[in-house]
Amino acid sequence: MNTRILTGITTTGTPHLGNYVGAIRPAVEASRRDDVDAFYFMADYHALIKSDDAARIERSRLEIAATWLAAGLDPQRVTFYRQSDIPEIPELTWFLTCIASKGMLNRAHAYKAAVDKNTAAGEDADAGITAGLYMYPVLMAADILAFDANQVPVGRDQIQHIEMARDLGQRFNHLHGHEFFVLPEALIEEQVATLPGLDGRKMSKSYDNTIPLFAGGKKQLRETIMRIVTDSRAPGEPKDPDDCALFTIFRAFASETETAAFRRALLDGIGWGEAKQVLYERIEADVAPMRERYEALMADPAAIEAILQQGARKARAIAAPKVAALREVLGLRAMTTAPARIDQPKAAPKQGKMPRFASFRDADGSFRFRLFSAEGEELLLSKPFADPKAAGSLQKHIKALGAAAAVLQIQPLGMSLELDGEAVASTPDYRDGQARDEALAQLRDALDQLAAQE
Ligand code: TRP
Repeated sequence: MNTRILTGITTTGTPHLGNYVGAIRPAVEASRRDDVDAFYFMADYHALIKSDDAARIERSRLEIAATWLAAGLDPQRVTFYRQSDIPEIPELTWFLTCIASKGMLNRAHAYKAAVDKNTAAGEDADAGITAGLYMYPVLMAADILAFDANQVPVGRDQIQHIEMARDLGQRFNHLHGHEFFVLPEALIEEQVATLPGLDGRKMSKSYDNTIPLFAGGKKQLRETIMRIVTDSRAPGEPKDPDDCALFTIFRAFASETETAAFRRALLDGIGWGEAKQVLYERIEADVAPMRERYEALMADPAAIEAILQQGARKARAIAAPKVAALREVLGLRAMTTAPARIDQPKAAPKQGKMPRFASFRDADGSFRFRLFSAEGEELLLSKPFADPKAAGSLQKHIKALGAAAAVLQIQPLGMSLELDGEAVASTPDYRDGQARDEALAQLRDALDQLAAQE
């Protein structure tokens, strides 16, 4: 079975070099693998949360589609579509909204950051916060669950969203006693470079330090590269390649041999102006053929539209039957047969083995408990409590938590579970890194199972 990889691109901006190196290039490469089934889409419903500038969204959608195609994405091979062409996504969003716990959404980083900002400014906690921002993680869960994605390549800032998608998928599966949804995993590419921008900070639109990928053509590319901040070392003075944005950007495009040569040149005192010209030429060599395709595509929006319509048909062929099945399950079916009698107790959902707590008293008389996995492995040992009620209420809290909301602190030999900044339980020590990863996955699954049952 192929791995289904799915990712969304929010359509609010114009692609820059950082997007190309960090997201577009690796995604296009992944899509060429024989064991991968890639789904890439433009998250234009998510864009509406961030921007009400219709012209900007319209332009960004076109630019992003043209960029991905110009970068080598093969729409025959990949399912490439717009979120807003898939009505099953908002429909599924509603189904998931109805089982999402509000507490989980309260803990989403983006929402919490907005609340904290308001609170710090002495404003009402929810001032200026839309329900769209609040619901962002549920829409994203629907994007992922509608297609049974196995892996979702995202930046670190999105990991929590993927965990929420898992949580919602698992909750739905559990409520309805069937594996309707595949539970996705975040795919964090450690290899992929994060490019520094003009000022040396991470290249990002919000820092206004980006180098455009295609916009403005090669003239603009060269001019922007010439604005990369350097120190004041004169030609002839050695430059430190390891503390220099120019070098980091160069390396993201060059072969090992080219990189070694550029390192040598910097150490040998190449002038900054000349070094920038070398960087420009290296990037331009990669970008020029793509830019040519980009410009041809931008001049023919109808061709892009046709590609996206085709992509939407492919995507809906998967999402539509899935959502139709969910409608059945939820009781939204055609009234052609008499419904099941509601005075009969609903058959209890099939119970697999569940993780469980076991309480005990310590030698010194304090109250503690352990959490065991469904398979009977010890996952957590609580801290000692003088009062058994306090131990019981911690169990309740852990049950309701779910992996997405759990704060797990990784330690050299074990992990601790924190609530409100305090460690309340810890795992057994692990043997090695692999045992740690397994323990982490097991613990997450157990937390999700418990929360789904709540
Ligand atoms: N939230 C993602 C981001 O800002 C974009 C996105 C929307 C997404 N839906 C998705 C990413 C589904 C992966 C899967 O980067």
